[in-house]
Amino acid sequence: MSRTDLTGRTAIVTGSRRGIGAAIARELLDHGATVVVCGRSEAGVADRVRTLDTTAPGRVRGCAADLTTAHGREHLLEIAATVDILVNNAGGFTRVMDTLSPTLDEWNDQLAVNLTVPFLLCQAVLPTMIEQGWGRIVNIGSIVASAPQLGNAIGYVAAKAGLVGFTRQLAAEVAHAGVTANVVNPGTIGTEHLRDYLAASDRMTEQSLAGRIPVGRLGRPAEIAGVIPYLVSDAGAFITGAVLDINGGAIHA
Ligand SMILES: NC(=O)c1ccc[n+]([C@@H]2O[C@H](COP(=O)([O-])OP(=O)(O)OC[C@H]3O[C@@H](n4cnc5c(N)ncnc54)[C@H](OP(=O)(O)O)[C@@H]3O)[C@@H](O)[C@H]2O)c1
Repeated sequence: MSRTDLTGRTAIVTGSRRGIGAAIARELLDHGATVVVCGRSEAGVADRVRTLDTTAPGRVRGCAADLTTAHGREHLLEIAATVDILVNNAGGFTRVMDTLSPTLDEWNDQLAVNLTVPFLLCQAVLPTMIEQGWGRIVNIGSIVASAPQLGNAIGYVAAKAGLVGFTRQLAAEVAHAGVTANVVNPGTIGTEHLRDYLAASDRMTEQSLAGRIPVGRLGRPAEIAGVIPYLVSDAGAFITGAVLDINGGAIHA
């Protein structure tokens, strides 16, 4: 059996009906896990479950829910029943906002999906992970946590930076119990979301973004997803409190 085999483990991947999350769900399924796929769009979740189920029959469950609501989180946890692996991937921002722009509600909205939801889901799954002496948490952050970039949303940046401190502290607290927690910070990845964002921008293009990346192109969702099975398997037992930057060398973009 491979050291990254995940047979018998159940994983939640939030925000996995498309983009980086969908690629992570695919990787975890390929390594034998049962995966709960989630997003707000019912049709989008159903579509993704249908696609994934063709190669992993019986190991994909879908959950359409807004995770910023208590009801949505409860629904997700009910569908999962047990959670060995939690990947907090849902996140992003809908509009560029510099520091002077957001209202308090807009600031709180950016923090909610990008920081508060990961915290609340960790709080919900940790007691069982600690009790069973095994658990894996991966929080998907962003390059903006350490490298400022114009054309962002200030609450999003604050939330992603907060995710690093939160994850490191959590990792230290639960290390004794066989539970690991890590952050993966993607650079610029060519997802549908990014392409929508570029289509709406009058200043940025795919070429201009690629020009800031030493590798010379945008990343692919599979290039983020590929590291996740290692982190969440037995092989990753000694990797905790780590922040993994995957950005084509664009450390100071
Ligand atoms: N793409 C990049 O260049 C990049 C760079 C750095 C970091 N990241 C981070 O990587 C993660 C994934 O990014 P992506 O580009 O793949 O984004 P994406 O294509 O927009 O996907 C986001 C996913 O999250 C779900 N989602 C959003 N809000 C939700 C909510 N309140 N409740 C439940 N599900 C929700 C979406 O589904 P619904 O639309 O159905 O809700 C979708 O499945 C995010 O955390 C993002 O901040 C991305």
